Amino acid sequence: MLQNYIWSKTGDKCKNMYRKVDQSQTLFINSQTERMVSQKRDVFRFGFGQSPFMPPQYIQEALKKAVIHKEYSSVQGDLELRENIANFHFMHNGLKVKTDNVVVAPGSKILIFNILMTFENADVFIPAPAWVSYGPQAKLAGHHIIKIPTSFEQRWRITPQSIHDAARTKRYDSSILILNYPGNPDGLTYSEEELSELSIAAGKYNMLVISDEIYGLLDHDNTHHSFASYYPQRTITTTGLSKWCGAGGWRFGAAMISDGLEPSFRKTLVGIGSETYSCAPVPVQIAARDAYQDYEMIKPYIDKQLGILKMIGNYCCEELKKVNINVHPPQGGFYLFLDFSLIRERLNSRGIRTSFELCDQLLSDTGVVLLPSTAFGFEDDFLGARLAYVDFDEPEEGEVLNLRSHFPRITRGIEALCKWMSEM
Ligand SMILES: Cc1ncc(COP(=O)(O)O)c(C=O)c1O
Repeated sequence: MLQNYIWSKTGDKCKNMYRKVDQSQTLFINSQTERMVSQKRDVFRFGFGQSPFMPPQYIQEALKKAVIHKEYSSVQGDLELRENIANFHFMHNGLKVKTDNVVVAPGSKILIFNILMTFENADVFIPAPAWVSYGPQAKLAGHHIIKIPTSFEQRWRITPQSIHDAARTKRYDSSILILNYPGNPDGLTYSEEELSELSIAAGKYNMLVISDEIYGLLDHDNTHHSFASYYPQRTITTTGLSKWCGAGGWRFGAAMISDGLEPSFRKTLVGIGSETYSCAPVPVQIAARDAYQDYEMIKPYIDKQLGILKMIGNYCCEELKKVNINVHPPQGGFYLFLDFSLIRERLNSRGIRTSFELCDQLLSDTGVVLLPSTAFGFEDDFLGARLAYVDFDEPEEGEVLNLRSHFPRITRGIEALCKWMSEM
């Protein structure tokens, strides 16, 4: 058993002073779900945001063949791969990035952390709601976190005004803003006008912006715009294969540093990479070379996903609205952020006062797994939750899709949730 004690200089036994880092809440919910499944409970897996789509066959084959490449690569990653990534994103939405400014790593998560680590002390502006790991990462990096609140009425979007308001509590000279769109947990994006306005506000505080666009290729209408196009001074766009290519477990991410950033930034980021992960797995880099080879070639594969995600996301949203859940029609990715405030009193009268209690009760009554809004930066008593509409098997190519027959776990899970709500 792990000794949870250390010895002080005087030889006294004292409690260890480990950092307080809980397991990321998404992974925790996933393990809870697995436990219920092993107990043969009928579970609707709307908790964990994992793509249900397989990577294209030719990319799988490329990975198999590449397994003999056991050598390390440079920290920054294979040159041809980085060229492909730069061209691919230019073809996708006109994002301009130099090959030299692309850095690849085992997942974008470690890249985001390492970008945060490039500063010794910074104010890190994080919208609420936002992806579960930004806050813990900023805390681990020793930064000062500034939450930017949003609301259902504001479509969970930050605004220039909310940035100015939040900036009143700045402590340091350096500021980092984390943007993520289409968003996890909200499935919403920003319009060109909104991005342009936000870039002006970010510029006012000389913010370094981490624009997490990992769901960018999953914008349901294929109208994703990169923040770096509006704020080329100081944006790092992060992305990877986990979402649009269904390859989260392959661990592949990329950071694209915009031209305006001084070369010392990249040098520092690569330096931190050399002291943490060394390089992205080389066989995966070789497969990624193919994945990023040509945007037009991969487009039909992405379009198929967009059609399915849009259909399922809109179905879930429409059904949930009927039972008094506040939710916006999704614009990208595979999440809906549910706000149960309209039935707060009814929930309270059943003893449900926190988002965790809400998700816990829902899970035990219906088998529907949602992730509580505390994971996304809300106070305990805000009654919100994230729904990931990914509990389905990828349909065969060319099938005419029917919600109930092709995505039965989605429709049954949504029905169970709606029934629970209407009986509340
Ligand atoms: C918003 C967001 N950013 C980043 C990541 C990290 O992705 P990866 O490290 O697999 O590239 C995820 C994964 O769930 C995510 O949802």
